[in-house]
Amino acid sequence: MALFALGDLHLAFQRPDKSMDAMGPVWVRHEEKILKNCRELVRPEDTLVLVGDHSWGRRLPQCAKDMEFIMSLPGRKILIRGNHDMFWEPQKTEALNQQFAGRLFFLQNNFAAYGEYAIVGTKGFTFEGPFWIDRLTGRILDWDKEEEAHAAKLVRREAARLEASFAAARKAGYRKFLVFLHYPPTSILESDSIFTQMAEQYGARDVVYAHCHGQAQFHDSHRGLYHGVCYHLVSGDCLDFRPERILD
Ligand SMILES: [Fe+2]
Ligand SMILES: [Fe+2]
Repeated sequence: MALFALGDLHLAFQRPDKSMDAMGPVWVRHEEKILKNCRELVRPEDTLVLVGDHSWGRRLPQCAKDMEFIMSLPGRKILIRGNHDMFWEPQKTEALNQQFAGRLFFLQNNFAAYGEYAIVGTKGFTFEGPFWIDRLTGRILDWDKEEEAHAAKLVRREAARLEASFAAARKAGYRKFLVFLHYPPTSILESDSIFTQMAEQYGARDVVYAHCHGQAQFHDSHRGLYHGVCYHLVSGDCLDFRPERILD
């Protein structure tokens, strides 16, 4: 039994206008890479956590083929909400879980068991600028304070959702945790955030996130061990669409 993670499938089977092929060589026919890599790595008894930005469909019917594709991947599939997942209104998580029962599990304000671990998570959020950067040194000179205040609100809302996920898992008796966020846990201005603090307080083993696209963004947040928690970036292009093995 193994646990794998991969983010940012950005499927567009019913939205050819959103095809990712133009986003760079790594994205060309990326669906084929996802399928091939998952079939190679993930066995039916394994768990595959898909860390958000699943589909470009605006509503569920426009995601039907993308969902079919995801369901055709091997293993138990757990989905985290990404910023582009318009089909997944936060208040409809329960309805999605009923509709896809036994095929897909949508993780928000709930948790999933993996052996003695609880898989907890939420979309997360982080301040993404705009920043004003010194072109010569690359140093951040300043940033938009209004946007920063707005982002702080969204961070608090997402932190409450993560807290609900932890609470549900604890209530069910779990004491070991794996955290999944779509957004990176910290902004480029931070080393610590409410998400890293929560991971540390609950003694989480790992924090897994996605969302960061392109080489320049791959080190926007923690990777590897920080304050006893192991951080993994699993955005599709960062992994060349090869799911990362998080735990056996
Ligand atoms: Fe993405
Ligand atoms: Fe994203």
